Amino acid sequence: MPYHTVLFAVEGRVATLTFNRPDKLNALNPEMWSEMSAVLTKVSQTPEIRVLILTGQGRAFIAGADIQLFPKFSPLEAARYSKIGQDVLFQMEELPIPVIAAVNGFALGGGCEVAMAADIIFAAEEAKFGQPEINLALIPGFGGTQRLSRLVGLGRARELCLTGRTIDAAEARASGLVARVFPGAALLEESLKVARGLADKGRTALHMMKQVLDRGFDQDLRSAIALENDAFGLCFSDPDAQEGAAAFLEKRKPKFA
Ligand code: COA
Repeated sequence: MPYHTVLFAVEGRVATLTFNRPDKLNALNPEMWSEMSAVLTKVSQTPEIRVLILTGQGRAFIAGADIQLFPKFSPLEAARYSKIGQDVLFQMEELPIPVIAAVNGFALGGGCEVAMAADIIFAAEEAKFGQPEINLALIPGFGGTQRLSRLVGLGRARELCLTGRTIDAAEARASGLVARVFPGAALLEESLKVARGLADKGRTALHMMKQVLDRGFDQDLRSAIALENDAFGLCFSDPDAQEGAAAFLEKRKPKFA
């Protein structure tokens, strides 16, 4: 299926979704959300794909929602648009495989929100992050008010959202938003290396790990640890768990399905 606003490629077990409106710094319009959702559906229906990488074409990851839409929005249309983005990001978060955001440039507004719905954020040294919506007399609408505080703490999230300040990759790394920073030219290759490593791990364990980390975070400790307990048991339904222990005991590398 041909896409207009994204590129989609699969190499071995790793798929890459590239946001592709470089002349508009990959600003998110309805077509891009819809194509992103179609790619996520395809990924979820293709068991051979074990990791998804997100990145941007040109000098941006995503520079936010397409501001050209805003002057025509009624309040209801704005709420509907926000809900579309929120739903697509839940769709992404609920994928059973790890998602890596390889942030190559601007990740502002919706771009930061897309990255935060990934499991791991890697950044190029020149990447920039922020929630600048307040400068348009708006607030983030694709989950930013909630995911940012969960990742960097409420105090930092308040400061970033209220001021709309843009931060560089080093500050994003120091704040816990970004896991690792690479020189721009190395970002994709380094992300691919990590992705290939993840692709060789046990599928059920990765799925359970994601689910328990994400769902548990919003629950009280006892309920969250009960989730962990169920998921730990479920891992043993996958022959990979037998293989993991056997390989350790036989002092060899495991070979998971
Ligand atoms: N929506 C629509 N178009 C956008 C956009 C957005 N969020 N971000 C960038 N663009 C467009 C610009 O309008 C420009 O288009 P044009 O060449 O047709 O005029 C093109 O992308 C290049 O952007 P430009 O502003 O010229 O690049 P820059 O290097 O001077 O500045 C940014 C880069 C990211 C600082 C600046 O584009 C910006 O502030 N973007 C908006 C960020 C934002 O507020 N996002 C949250 C939206 S809710």
